[in-house]
Amino acid sequence: MASTEGLQAYEEENLLLSLPKEKDWIAQHLYLFQDFWYPSNFIEGVINFQKHFQAKDSDVIVATVPKSGTTWLKALTFAILNRQRFSSSHNHPLLTSNSHELVPPLELIFHVDNIQDKLSDLSNITEPRVFGTHVPFPSLPKSIKESNCKIVYICRNPFDTIVSLWIFANKNNPLNELTIEETLEKYCKGIVGFGPTWEHMLGYWKESIANPNKVLFLKYEELKEDINFYVKRVAEFLDCPFTEEEESNGVIENIINLCSFEKMKNLEVNKSGTVGRKYEKKYFFRKGEVGDWVNYFSPAMIEKLSKTMEEKLSGSGLSF
Ligand code: A3P
Repeated sequence: MASTEGLQAYEEENLLLSLPKEKDWIAQHLYLFQDFWYPSNFIEGVINFQKHFQAKDSDVIVATVPKSGTTWLKALTFAILNRQRFSSSHNHPLLTSNSHELVPPLELIFHVDNIQDKLSDLSNITEPRVFGTHVPFPSLPKSIKESNCKIVYICRNPFDTIVSLWIFANKNNPLNELTIEETLEKYCKGIVGFGPTWEHMLGYWKESIANPNKVLFLKYEELKEDINFYVKRVAEFLDCPFTEEEESNGVIENIINLCSFEKMKNLEVNKSGTVGRKYEKKYFFRKGEVGDWVNYFSPAMIEKLSKTMEEKLSGSGLSF
């Protein structure tokens, strides 16, 4: 008789064979699963995560669109939640670990053969546990949706997201032959890791309106504009607002500085090594600006993306 793991691997392989597939620029392929495109190096982890993850009420999930500020929001969320355990200036884990290591993506955590060992490791983590994910809202495990855990979500103007993504793809995979125009074509058809991006954003957007204590919806541009306000907002949302004493002692400013683009980019820990064996840490820090897309978009590309966004987002109340 086949072992449980053997049976599971067999079922997963058959499932993968049955899914629609497209070529990807970073991973080998994208698979269409539950209406979203998943990179081949994530898909098994996504399926396991969905099947096996047990959320705790105290968990915090940092959910994001790739290339929209994940590295930043993970650092901020970790620093806000753990500000009593670690002072911001000395021996802070963010000075010696990349934020993706401190707030690991659940789809990578579950990219393993031995799920039972993984589950027992996870249950022993100090609470509140903080995890990341790119999985869209409809495909999150039931226990995340039904428990009292909280979700902090970030997305970004698709114009900047696609430029960031295209450059990241080229750096991580120098053999990528897709031009930015071709990348945009695919993006507008929704064929991009964890896309269609519109559906990704709308899933969390609608949930944040229906259930504002469950999902906090943030935009990269808003954080860039007024980080002080949003650090406080995240802390309030996570039920750990800053006290007046903390405010006057500069705790908020310390967190903002610790997580700033310049500070993080220049840390030794972020200059070498990889995240998830595949992605170079240094490539997660490029310009960190709003509006760099103007240096890459032709008038035809502007028209194409503007039209698609109008079509996909109109009437939703979500705009950029
Ligand atoms: P650019 O490529 O436009 O520079 P993600 O973390 O989701 O992969 O997103 C990467 C984008 O966030 C990159 O954008 C990167 O430079 C920017 N970024 C990384 N760390 C940041 C920080 N601490 N503050 C602001 N932006 C940051």
